[in-house]
This record gives sequence, structure tokens and C-alpha cells, in this order.
Amino acid sequence: MSMYQEHRQRFLEVLFREQMAAVIPTETEKTRNHDAHYRFRPHSDFWYLTGFAEPESVLVLVPGKEKAEDGQAILFLRERNKEMEIWDGKRLGVDDAPEMLGLDEAHPIEDLWKELPNLLAGQQRIVYRSGHDEDFDWHFHRMVEGLRGRARRGIEPPTAVLDPGPYLHELRLHKSPGELECMRHAARITTQAHCAAMAAARPGVYEYEIDALLEYTFRRHGSTGPAYNSIVAGGANACILHYIENDQRLCEGELLLIDAGAEWKYYASDVTRTFPVSGTFSEPQKALYEVVLRAQLAAIDVIRPGVATKLVHETALHALVDGLIELGLCQGTREEVIESNAHRDFFMHGTSHWLGLDVHDQGAYTRGGESRPLAPGMVLTVEPGLYVDPENQAVEERWRGIGIRIEDDILVTDEGHENLTAAIPKTVAEVEAACQAALEGVA
Ligand code: GLY
Ligand code: MN
Ligand code: MN
Repeated sequence: MSMYQEHRQRFLEVLFREQMAAVIPTETEKTRNHDAHYRFRPHSDFWYLTGFAEPESVLVLVPGKEKAEDGQAILFLRERNKEMEIWDGKRLGVDDAPEMLGLDEAHPIEDLWKELPNLLAGQQRIVYRSGHDEDFDWHFHRMVEGLRGRARRGIEPPTAVLDPGPYLHELRLHKSPGELECMRHAARITTQAHCAAMAAARPGVYEYEIDALLEYTFRRHGSTGPAYNSIVAGGANACILHYIENDQRLCEGELLLIDAGAEWKYYASDVTRTFPVSGTFSEPQKALYEVVLRAQLAAIDVIRPGVATKLVHETALHALVDGLIELGLCQGTREEVIESNAHRDFFMHGTSHWLGLDVHDQGAYTRGGESRPLAPGMVLTVEPGLYVDPENQAVEERWRGIGIRIEDDILVTDEGHENLTAAIPKTVAEVEAACQAALEGVA
């Protein structure tokens, strides 16, 4: 049984327990400009349950009445079409889909809105994410309205359309062994790419050259590409949190912040490293780097089952603030700095997010208003940073324009945690060695 069938089986168990059906469409193809499209990527929910990457597909799940195993998985997809396949590529087709994907039935996508009312007749609760695709929403709600019209014939109409959040996304939050294998592989490719970048960066190289090297390294190892737009930020560009222009020249003495991760079978990695373009940290760069590193290691260290998710951020924040005070960038006690938000001049983002098929993965962070406890199988990033605005006149000049973030991908295990991206150089000595060895290599 494929990992996708296992996911589907687990979701069908939830649907049986809650007596709900589900309608899970994939993404729509997106226009880039005129008649050119972006490369297609399936919707993460749909991929999780099918492992099927063709556009124009919808999965329908109908729960068993007596037992979970009686649940039905029905896929609507494109039919084979010789002429279209010559232009746009091969299609799985309706005949082969049930066996290839382990489904109960497959139907042509053109029949979706004709067949769906029959499949969903009598289902009172339907899991469907509205608000994502206006056109699909319109058809879906028209179909629900049609089902209400059958009430006179004794077929009970739907009374609730439910968000996948508490059901499907809770499953996605706890990674299956197959998913973890994908994430480990994404992490291995990302390791290669970050090491290659440290090897290649030197004064005079442009950020886009490093960006291209990262993407080349991802793709040549079979990755679908970057899991998100790579940030390749030299010098003060690192202080722009979502800098993706990546078009500036790297200069002697600057740091280079790279936030880039490979996607493997649509599973993300998400890693940041910051290193000196010329191979050695300056004293102020090193001082700030050591603070961020200490904060990151301390935050990773608290990760284990049962610990409230917010403790990861609080631990990083405390260590960052202590460091800012030690270096004279903030004044007062830790509590005073945090109370007055003075640290936000230097650290203005969160420390963690879930990671999986989406880089900011699905899954609730709180339960009943409380930060939820970590559990085995969850994967989260730990990514503290310090960013000194180049125009910040309140600090000594030597700090200005330095931006540092360090980010790893951490799996919660039964015993504690495992750093999936631990192989990427991170200490000052490791990073300098990786840069210098590479500089000698390319000189
Ligand atoms: N690269 C996106 C993030 O770190 O959240
Ligand atoms: Mn991240
Ligand atoms: Mn990142």
C-alpha cells in the first residue's frame, strides 16, 4: 500500500468516526502571463491523499456506514486524449486510475457536477475548504443547494460544510514514516545546496548567481525545485526579511544570508545559514552570530513531547535579549526589554512554524486558546535572527546593516528531537572552514 493510500485510509477512519464526506480538489493551473503557465503543483491536501499530480482532479471520499473499511475513494480526472497528450503530456486516464492509485472508482472530470450530488446524497456533513477557489466554491455551493431540493424525496440534505483544519490538517501535522523519508531527503539535498553556496560565494559574485546555484543543486538531485522563493541577501539586504530580488553584488567583508530549501515529492525543507562572503567573520559579525546561534541551540534543546510550542519561541527570545543587553544594543533587564518591545528593533518575527507539504504547514498552533504541546511526528523550524537596520542611529555604526538568521528543521521524536538539517555547517568554526576551503578550491 502506498503512503498516500495509508493517508487516505487514516482520513477515511476520521470521516467514518465523524460521519462526514469530503471533497478535495487539487490546485488550478495559474497563468504567469498571456498564455504561459507556472509549472503546475498539486494542492497539498490532494497530494497527501492521492500522490497524483495532474491538474483538473478532484478526490471525493464517502464514509462507510457500518465500518471505516467500507469508505469509498472516488477520483475525478482527465480522460486519456491522444491529441492533447501530444501537446501537454501523458495522462493517467480514468481506466487505469483505480488500480494505479488504489481507488474504488474513477470518473471523467467533466462529470463531476453531474455525479457529485449522487455520491453525496444523504451525507449531512461535508468537509470542503471554501474561500480558496471562487469558481469551485460557486459550483460546490450550487450543488449543495441542489441537494437541499431533494429533501422532499426523503434524502436528508447537508447541514454543515466543515473546514479540513481539525480533521485532515491534524493528520498532516503528525508525519507518517513515508513523509519523514521525503523530508529527510529534502534536507539532504538542501545540505548539498547550502554547502555549494558557501563554496561559491566570494566578493564580486552576484546574489543571483548563488540563487541559480541553489536551484541547480536542488534540481540536479531530482528535487521539484525550491520549496519557496530563495532569499539570497548580501550585507544589509539580510535586514529585509522577505528579500527575494537577489540581484546585488556581494562585497568584501559582508555577510550573506541564504534562506533556501529543496522540495522533494512536494515536501519542503526550510533552512537559513549566514556566512561571511570573504571567509572570515568580523568581530561585530561574530559577536551577533554567536548570540543568534546560542539562542537557536537553546530553543532546539527544549523540544520534546509535551512541551508547549510557545516555549521554543520564548527560549529563543530570552537568549536573544540577553545577548542584545550584553552587547549594549538594548538597555535594562531582560523583562524590561521584552515588556517595552525594545527587542523588536532587532528581532521582529516568530521563531517557529510547522513544516511539511507546505513550508508554513497546516495544523493548529493553539488549542482552546493555549499553546499546544509538541508531539512525536511533528516537524517545526527553529529560526531566530537579529537584524540591525542600516539606518539605526541608536546603535554604534559597527553593528549597522548586519542581518543574521539561523534556521533548522526539527522533528519531534519519542525521546526528544532530531535535527533533520544538522549536517549543514553552523558554528563559526564550521562555517568559516566551509567558506575558506571552498575559496581555496575556486581560487
Ligand atoms: N523561508 C520561509 C520561512 O523561513 O518561514
Ligand atoms: Mn521558516
Ligand atoms: Mn526559511
